[in-house]
Amino acid sequence: MKLEESKTFINLAKDFAGECQARTRYKFLEYGARKEGYGCLAEIIDKVVYNEFNHARMFYTFIQRASKEQIKNIDIDTGYPFKQKWDLIENLRISAEDEEHEFTKIYPEHRKIAEEEGFSEIADLYTNIIQVESCHHKLFTDLYNQMSKGTIYKKAKPVKWKCAACGYEHTSEEAWKVCPLCLAPQGMVMLKLKDE
Ligand SMILES: [Fe+2]
Ligand SMILES: [Fe+2]
Repeated sequence: MKLEESKTFINLAKDFAGECQARTRYKFLEYGARKEGYGCLAEIIDKVVYNEFNHARMFYTFIQRASKEQIKNIDIDTGYPFKQKWDLIENLRISAEDEEHEFTKIYPEHRKIAEEEGFSEIADLYTNIIQVESCHHKLFTDLYNQMSKGTIYKKAKPVKWKCAACGYEHTSEEAWKVCPLCLAPQGMVMLKLKDE
């Protein structure tokens, strides 16, 4: 089967669009985090933004392999979520939800179709992206839990905090409001993530 005539070809186009949108949605999130003074949180989200860019890039690359000619247009008929308002904590929760939908539903379905149509390399791409989206899901869930419970910079036991701006370290339950060395705000204290 020619890629151009397959369902996989359309799925690649849908998933390229989906990843471009995820990238932009997470850029909204990063923008919101930075605006509210959570510089280190914004940096973590920005890494996810770059991951989604690279997922989009790989879907695009596989689409290009279908033809040496210029691909002028691919019609896709599908839906995408528009759930986020400008609420940082709620948007973290929604992001975790969207990632779960990707790695448990959309990409496994598209992988199955790619396998059935004989595109094993594309099926492998889906397998690898599923692994990353499941990590994104865990990350957003962790960030949502910490932000909603107010434990992002306040723990039950003393932990070692580190200023991302100057490297100052101190062990305490709660991170400093202003760095005693460089005066950076609390949002520049590096986060304690579950998976690190
Ligand atoms: Fe992605
Ligand atoms: Fe993701």
